[in-house]
Amino acid sequence: MRLYILGFMGSGKSSQGKKLAKKLDLDFYDTDKMIEQVAGMSIPKIFSEKGEHWFRDLEADVLRGTIMYTDAVIATGGGTPCFFNNMQWINARGVSLYFHVPTGHIYQRLKTRKSKRPLIADLNDEELMEYIERKLGERDYYYRKASHTFDLSETNVKQIAGFLKEQYDQLK
Ligand code: S3P
Repeated sequence: MRLYILGFMGSGKSSQGKKLAKKLDLDFYDTDKMIEQVAGMSIPKIFSEKGEHWFRDLEADVLRGTIMYTDAVIATGGGTPCFFNNMQWINARGVSLYFHVPTGHIYQRLKTRKSKRPLIADLNDEELMEYIERKLGERDYYYRKASHTFDLSETNVKQIAGFLKEQYDQLK
């Protein structure tokens, strides 16, 4: 079984996803890390040297490469569901989990973690808040196509794991 984690930058897809994988006894993969390995450079460098289009093409390829993992939690990048037909691809091959986090929490988390994220690296605090609100508005349409949505400010990983075990016999 493949569980794909979706959500905005700074919503805890990797940190909470890793914990979820452990609780469900599944492997954990992170498509951003896989992209960096395939490209042989960091994500900021990919954006500055190759551009966002190149990144999005590679992101879609790497996503499709996750078909080889059969029992895994796979954290995607914040933009992954919003390009090409990635969201449709994900839902046809796995179960998608949208980790929803309130805008204010995302802002607090991203404020001090901007440098590794080229889309926000150069924004000041006010611009960052505007960016999050605008992008979340645009991306919500895609995130809401997820099989399940969890609000991480109200639900912890243990509860999510419990819910998934109840829903899917393969996880028991
Ligand atoms: C992006 C999110 C990043 C990374 C890239 C683009 C986005 O992943 O894929 O910088 O478009 O929101 P995280 O959500 O893991 O930060």
